[in-house]
Formats: sequence, C-alpha cells, structure tokens
Amino acid sequence: MEKNRIATLTLDDGRSIELPIMSGTLGPDVIDIRNLGKLGIFTYDPAFFSTASCTSAITFIDGDAGLLYYRGYPIEQLAEHSDFLEVCYLLLNGELPDGGQKAEFSRRVTSHTMVHDQMARFFSGFRRDAHPMAVMVGVVGALSAFYHDSLDISNPEHRDISALRMLAKVPTIAAMAHKYYIGAPFMYPKNKFGYAENLMYMMFATPAEDYIPNPVLVRALDRILILHADHEQNASTSTVRLAGSSGANPFACIASGIAALWGPAHGGANEAALNMLIEIGDVSRVKEYVQGVKDKKYRLMGFGHRVYKNMDPRAAVMRQTCYEVLKELKLENNKLFELAMELERVALSDPYFIDHKLYPNVDFYSGIVLRALGIPTNMFTVIFAVARTVGWISQWNEMIASGDHKISRPRQLYRGAVKRDYVPVKKR
Ligand code: ACO
Repeated sequence: MEKNRIATLTLDDGRSIELPIMSGTLGPDVIDIRNLGKLGIFTYDPAFFSTASCTSAITFIDGDAGLLYYRGYPIEQLAEHSDFLEVCYLLLNGELPDGGQKAEFSRRVTSHTMVHDQMARFFSGFRRDAHPMAVMVGVVGALSAFYHDSLDISNPEHRDISALRMLAKVPTIAAMAHKYYIGAPFMYPKNKFGYAENLMYMMFATPAEDYIPNPVLVRALDRILILHADHEQNASTSTVRLAGSSGANPFACIASGIAALWGPAHGGANEAALNMLIEIGDVSRVKEYVQGVKDKKYRLMGFGHRVYKNMDPRAAVMRQTCYEVLKELKLENNKLFELAMELERVALSDPYFIDHKLYPNVDFYSGIVLRALGIPTNMFTVIFAVARTVGWISQWNEMIASGDHKISRPRQLYRGAVKRDYVPVKKR
C-alpha cells in the first residue's frame, strides 16, 4: 500500500497546514494544495510554472530527459510505425486498436468527413483575405449550430459521435479555408483516401485535373499530424479544458482551443520560424542574427519550450522527415534547410543557448517540411489545429468522463485600488 506522504507548510505567523503529496505513475510528485484555502491563503503561479491543473492518463512529457509518450508509447515509435488515425484511436481510447477495431474506427471517421452543405455559405461572409485561422475559429465553433443531436455532454455516446465528427470534419473545414483564400472551388472529401491523403487532396486537387498523391509526402504530413496530436496541458489544451469545465459543448471548446493555438508563442511558431529563416536569408547572416537574439532584440523562433529543457523529441523526428521530403522532391540543397542546420549548429554551441537550455522544438523544422509539401505559410497553424483536434477532444472527454470535474476558477492577487467612494462627475 502506498505510504501517505505529507508536506507541512508553516506561515510566518506560526500557523501551519499539512498537505498530502501525490505521486503519478511517472514524473515528479505534486503537493495537493486544495485545502490551503482553510488558512485563508492561496498560491501565486500566474503562468502555471509549478501547478498541475488536472490528473491525466493521456500524454507524458519529461522535459529534462526529452521524452514524450502517448498513452505510454514513445513518440519516436509511433512516428515510425503507426499512422495518424491509429494514434487518434490510441489517444481517445487508451489502447492501440486491433485490426478489426482499426478498420472500424477508420470507417466511422471516414463516414463523417463531409460538412453540412449549408456550412459552405459561412465562408462567403469572410473577407477573401481572411487568415485561415480566423475562419477556423468561426467555422469550427459554428459546428455546434449544425449538430445539435450530439450536444448532451453527460451522454458518452454523444461525446463519442462529437469526437468522430470533429476528427472527420476539421480537415474538411481546414481545406475549405485554404480554397476560399486562394479563390478556388471547394473539393469534397474522397473517402478512398487515408486521412492525411484526403487532406492533401482537398487542399491541392481541382475539379479540372486528376490528383495523384505522392506517398512520401503523404507520409510526411501524416507524421506531422502524429507529432502534433497531443502535448498534455499546453496553452490550447488548457483552454479547451477550462472552456469545457463550464459545461460548454465540445465544438465551442475546440474553437476556443484553436483561438489559443493561433499565437506565435504556441501554434503560430512554425509560421514565425519559417518567416525568420526567410528574413535571415543567407548562411552568412546567421552569426549576426544569433547575436541579435542574445542582445534580446528578438527571439529565435522554433527554439525553447516551457517544458523541454533538452532536445524536443519531435524535433529529431521532424529533422529526419525534412531530409526525406527534400530528397524526394530533389531539393537536397534547399537553402532554408541549410540555413536551419547552420542556425541550429551555431545556437547549440553558444553559451547563451546552453545556459538558457534552449533547444530546437518541433516547429523549427516543421515549417520547412510544410513549405516543401506546398502548404502556404498561413495554413501552417491550421495544419497544427487539425492534428491537435484529437488531443483536445481526448483531454476534454477525459475531464467530462471523470464525472468529478468542477468549473475551473483561478484566484488572483489583487493589487488594485482599495475601497473608495464614488465622486459625482462635476466634483472630479
Ligand atoms: N530565443 C531567445 N531567447 C529565448 C527564447 C528564444 N526562442 N525562448 C526563451 N528565451 C529566453 C528568454 O529571453 C528568457 O531569458 P532571460 O531569463 O535571460 O530573461 C528565458 O529564455 C526564459 O524565457 P521565458 O519566455 O520565460 O520562457 P517560457 O518557458 O515562458 O517560454 C516559449 C517558452 C514561449 C516557447 C519561448 O521559448 C519562446 O518564445 N520560443 C519561441 C517561440 C516558439 O518556438 N514557440 C513554440 C513552442 S512549441 C509549440 O507550441 C509546439
């Protein structure tokens, strides 16, 4: 039996409280501070540097060792041997599917890939040059206005059907956002294709020509989807959980996750990293640029991570994928890739980056791969959103299914005006 372990907190006025120490199956212990309020005090941790917001059995990260597991399986093994839909099943259900389960899951997702035809009309309400992420936030949120029949979040079957609908429809909406932006006709999904293949088809095919997907490029996109599928309690996932804690419907919750993902410190980083490489422009400017980063004029995008203080394990897989894609496209001498390699080499040998424990994250390379696949820069974060949808749904479902969640409600350290009396406008 597990020994009860206790941390004792003593205040400067002599009052003290015993706080239970909890252990997970992996990772550091945590101190359960839920009873602190009995002393009339709270903890202060604005950006959640030291706070676990939930219990979860989905994804494990050891940032110091550079480890990432989905349901216990190392990301490198999944990226090499699995495929995105199988990873979706794993994240949602906790186990890898057997052959029959895999085929059935794929069939169920596939049967939901089309969106209500009326949804197409939403698009014409957006300016032609609307950023596809703006379209995603709006149109994914609007799914809740179309699929009323699956919004009872206390019903596991409703949650299951909503999960399938989002997994299936978010790529369709993503491709529509791209087609709208470039002024091309929407392409309906083609269910003979696999998940990543279908996404490429809907983005790149036109009614005028046959489209034959390149298996190497499809595999690369599939791998990008696997690598971005979940990442425990990051900003967007925490946003989804927070929105969901109020009982909001899953489509609205995922839309809130998409909004949180948009920022350059999170999902927008691959777009920012690629733009940075383009701005540097030439290997000869790397040292000067790195000096600018050290002088804090700008950040090295695609570097650093709140949790990884070692190599992001996804970055290593993505670098390999980058080689494969560039080789397939006969772009081995790709200037941006050479620039990225040099930037990585210079940064990793520089004391500033070593002391700050700044290593490349997955987005340092994913931008180059996405660009090589022909995906425009403004769609990078959208692809990330497509991948992360399954993580958001899995985390949301875990929270709702636990049955004991409460509305999330952080406290604050108030530093505003103390009580004062209203002064009529003429006397101010
Ligand atoms: N380039 C240069 N310096 C950096 C960088 C960077 N990319 N990231 C952090 N630092 C420095 C900060 O200047 C700070 O230095 P100081 O202590 O001397 O003042 C120190 O490292 C700590 O930085 P914080 O911003 O406090 O660290 P935090 O954990 O909050 O930031 C973040 C994490 C936001 C990811 C940050 O590293 C960053 O902005 N990176 C660039 C954007 C990026 O690549 N984001 C992708 C994240 S991965 C993903 O979402 C898939």
